[in-house]
Amino acid sequence: MFRTLGPHPESRFAHNDYLGLRRDPRLVSGLIRALEAGLPLTSSGSRLLSGNLDLFTGFESRFARAAGFPAALVFASTSEANRAAICALVDRHDVVIHDSLAHASLIDGILHSGAKRKKFAHNDPADLRAQLCEGGGRIRLVVTESVFSMDGDVAPLADLHQVCKEEGALLLVDEAHAVGLFGANRTGLSEGLPKDHTFIASTQGFGKGLASAGGILCTVPAVLERIHNLSRAFIFTTAPSPIAIKAAELAWDLSCADIQRRSQLDALCVQFAEGIQTLGWSLPRREIPTPIFPLLCGGLESAIRASAQLAAQQIFLRPIRPPTVPAGTERLRATVTADLHTSDVDEFLGALRHV
Ligand SMILES: Cc1ncc(COP(=O)(O)O)c(C=O)c1O
Repeated sequence: MFRTLGPHPESRFAHNDYLGLRRDPRLVSGLIRALEAGLPLTSSGSRLLSGNLDLFTGFESRFARAAGFPAALVFASTSEANRAAICALVDRHDVVIHDSLAHASLIDGILHSGAKRKKFAHNDPADLRAQLCEGGGRIRLVVTESVFSMDGDVAPLADLHQVCKEEGALLLVDEAHAVGLFGANRTGLSEGLPKDHTFIASTQGFGKGLASAGGILCTVPAVLERIHNLSRAFIFTTAPSPIAIKAAELAWDLSCADIQRRSQLDALCVQFAEGIQTLGWSLPRREIPTPIFPLLCGGLESAIRASAQLAAQQIFLRPIRPPTVPAGTERLRATVTADLHTSDVDEFLGALRHV
């Protein structure tokens, strides 16, 4: 059973535009205004040569300040930000310990760095401590997501940070699914963690809650200096699209200002969570509501069947299979977004009843 890249209709419940901003008139007109005022269509070169636009440096310093870090750097994707960050922090003399459900781009970063790779049990600070106590490695770097992309649960960041601090490890947090939604400045759940010698970096994605594309790494200047000088993911590539970065900046500002939209999302998440649980689907324990809902089907064939049953009712969710999720946890991944109405959620729940 292979994946296929089919034409499939836009699905209301399967995308990551959590704030529902992809056609927001405020963003469209903001972007048109910026283009009319001279925003270039392309960065036209690497940051080190011709592509170091004021737009990038201005946004980086605003975003870094909001996240509580001294510096930041935009990338054409969060995957590249993750890869560059990890390779700047560790090498073959070091150890990286990642949450067992960490995103593929974090694993790729570890593999690229040459560091020894270990896992800790999902969201389990005690197991992280046990792994760290085994010792080894000149630098020990711990890597996690804040909101897990396929399960929608959240990492116990304060506890993980405490363990790292006590064991002398560094912490990197991927905020791809949290930016725009969480934190007083909407930079993610780690925004409130102390920026000490332990919490060394966070990465945020623009392709999800900020309805654009690209990513940003928030960290300390020494890490950025290594990236500027050594990172292949930074040096040998065209700087990100100015349109994507401007769109992300506009959406980030909107996510801070439009509190109403955020409350609408929360209300829909509660309605959705209660609804699917009433129908007998269980959800992973979550400390705070998030817009990601895994519907575990008990195997790939069941996930494919459930997907087809929903499609017959005009609800399009593609099955999620290994290696995106561990074998045996194949699922449909449903998301709720702020541009939906309670009637949309009712419609979804009505269709799910027949699965
Ligand atoms: C947790 C996490 N990190 C990083 C990425 C990569 O993001 P991007 O699409 O910007 O490379 C994703 C996206 O799929 C993700 O879910």
